[in-house]
Amino acid sequence: MSAFIVVGAQWGDEGKGKMTDYLAEDADVVVRYQGGNNAGHTVEVGDKQYKLHLIPSGVLYENKLNVIGNGLVVDPKALFEEMDYLKGLGVDITPEKLIVSDRAQVIMPYHKVLDALKEKARGKNDIGTTGKGIGPSYTDKFERCGIRVCDLMHKDVFKTKLMENIEMKNAYITKVLDGEELNFDEIYAQYLDYAERLRPFVKDVSVRVYDEIKAGKKVLFEGAQGMLLDIDHGTYPYVTSSNTTSGGVCSGVGIGPNMIQNAVGIAKAYTTRVGKGPFPTELNDETGEWIRTKGHEYGVTTGRSRRCGWLDLVILKTTARVCGLTSFAVTKIDTLAGLEKIKVCVGYKFNNEVIDYFPASLEDLALCEPIYEEFEGWEEKIEDARSYDELPENAKKYLKRIEEFTGVKIAIVSVGPKRDQTMMVGEI
Ligand code: GDP
Ligand code: IMO
Ligand code: MG
Repeated sequence: MSAFIVVGAQWGDEGKGKMTDYLAEDADVVVRYQGGNNAGHTVEVGDKQYKLHLIPSGVLYENKLNVIGNGLVVDPKALFEEMDYLKGLGVDITPEKLIVSDRAQVIMPYHKVLDALKEKARGKNDIGTTGKGIGPSYTDKFERCGIRVCDLMHKDVFKTKLMENIEMKNAYITKVLDGEELNFDEIYAQYLDYAERLRPFVKDVSVRVYDEIKAGKKVLFEGAQGMLLDIDHGTYPYVTSSNTTSGGVCSGVGIGPNMIQNAVGIAKAYTTRVGKGPFPTELNDETGEWIRTKGHEYGVTTGRSRRCGWLDLVILKTTARVCGLTSFAVTKIDTLAGLEKIKVCVGYKFNNEVIDYFPASLEDLALCEPIYEEFEGWEEKIEDARSYDELPENAKKYLKRIEEFTGVKIAIVSVGPKRDQTMMVGEI
């Protein structure tokens, strides 16, 4: 296996950072293909915790190449803050260790302003974005007025594009959204500084990743967000603005599908979601609160409480199909220890029928009633388990049901946030 994908199987925060770090030990290159610093990936090694937003989770190893693909929207300020934060933790980010695509889009100050003002204008129909300017930046990409990293590298091109954008954005911000005008000179000067700091990292990512794979190197593609936050396949409009699913890799890096062999779906042993939108198995009761507290379910990027609910196998089956999963890595099964009974959704009752897929229309989804199977829980703490045999019988039954329902085998079980709290139980 020379190239494989790590993809979120639910609504994000499944433990992609932890699993990428774990699997990166055996890889040469780790590549982000979409999203931006809306992501918050936690990696724990020894007694240190690292919170990554834009920089791939392979960065804690020496001698591995980390790549920010063309499919990302890059906030240079956030990138440099993250580099400085990592330096403070003893991790030096050099151009040998990180490259940034010249085709990636640049997040500008007006994108963040627009993100906030549009959310305000949506009122009670707000999406609950992370406020990082992600949606407005992708909007500009598809509107074809975005500023790319390569534009930033050319002072004059950047000046012209920025001028055009500032004029349009200021008109919209002040006249439609009742916001404050942005100053061209300040932004221009600031971004010229960013450009010089960024320059040594800028490369053609498609060429480099292709060459690495051809040279027999192992490449790991690290997804951000999750299947149901995908702009096409998620719970639209309560989604992010990129293709979070496996399909995003080809366009977000610039390689063909025949270069990729495997896709590991990272699935939390229960379900969480941050921000607004439908969530059929949500628990608005003391069990939901119990899971939130025990699982420390608070956002890495915004600090918001994550909504918690039972595991939904309809979601995992959908992800298996859409992402072409070859295996699952199940995380946070340790959190469930201590529950007397654990429920799992195995279908939706919809218009007197039973369905096992996600309807496109949110109005239809609202009519779906989860059908549950109930499992006996387990009391034993399992954070110290290091092999499948050490897991309680009831935990094994729970894991088996995931495999049966989705038709996809579990390759990895994670029993804690640290690198070594992980067991390989099959092939990825
Ligand atoms: P990501 O966005 O998918 O990388 O996930 P986050 O980092 O946002 O959230 C996952 C949280 O769960 C982080 O705090 C991880 O350190 C933690 N975590 C990951 N795997 C496990 C696990 O198996 N058990 C426990 N208890 N925590 C885990
Ligand atoms: P990781 O990679 C969980 C959610 C936001 C909001 C919606 C749109 O850590 O799993 P955006 O700012 O992207 O326009 O917000 O998407 N969201 C995430 N939820 N994990 C994430 O990333 C997320 N990134 C965005 O909460 O509901
Ligand atoms: Mg996260």
